[in-house]
Amino acid sequence: MRGKFITLEGIDGAGKSTHLAWLATHFRTRNLPICQTREPGGTPLGEKLRALLLDKDQPMHLETETLLMFAARREHIQQVIEPALARGDWVLCDRFTDATFAYQGGGRGVACEKLEILEQWVQDGLQPDLTIIFDLPPAIGRARAGRIKIPDRFEAENEAFYERVRAGYLGRAKNDVKRIRLIDASRSIAEVQADLLVLVDRLCQ
Ligand code: ADP
Ligand code: TYD
Repeated sequence: MRGKFITLEGIDGAGKSTHLAWLATHFRTRNLPICQTREPGGTPLGEKLRALLLDKDQPMHLETETLLMFAARREHIQQVIEPALARGDWVLCDRFTDATFAYQGGGRGVACEKLEILEQWVQDGLQPDLTIIFDLPPAIGRARAGRIKIPDRFEAENEAFYERVRAGYLGRAKNDVKRIRLIDASRSIAEVQADLLVLVDRLCQ
């Protein structure tokens, strides 16, 4: 049986890495096969592109940035995501195309129509079975993320940028209420994970 494709989204510091690791353990304890991956990245070439995309000292045109995100994604779908789904794995992916609509679209201002063309071209109909957006005010995300590391090219952006990214995510969620679920991530880790479990368990049925 074909596997399921779950993507986790949200602004930096929303808790994606924390919850992805927790979800992976949840699946493993149930003996369910998983493929844990991330974007940009997930393949050797994708990880090289990721390094360029996150490098604070590597300026690039906003459309170059968009195209590199989709180039990494093309590779990721073909080499990792599709084979994993075909062998029946649960694919748990830290970010996917909704991040491009939020960051490059909402944050940077790339036209939605251009992103839709690339989405159609690169994904050829592939969409996650479930996307969870961990929603929270940028000030909280920044305070949480800032505790752990030196900011990369995106994390170095200001709060107004992150407000636009958040609005981009909320707009995506409104347009696809069946696939995309919002979780209020300003609450405790335990409260967030209780909601997460309900959504994921629904997919198992
Ligand atoms: P992301 O991957 O979305 O950037 P992380 O999972 O790395 O976010 O979380 C950023 C920091 O915030 C980590 O130190 C993590 O332990 C902490 N954190 C995550 N979720 C919560 C929460 N609900 N409440 C308090 N701290 C949290
Ligand atoms: P992430 O893995 O969340 O970073 P970290 O390892 O610091 O938790 O994502 C890397 C950055 O890439 C993040 O700031 C968002 C950005 N990004 C985009 O701008 N567009 C995209 O399409 C994707 C997938 C990520």
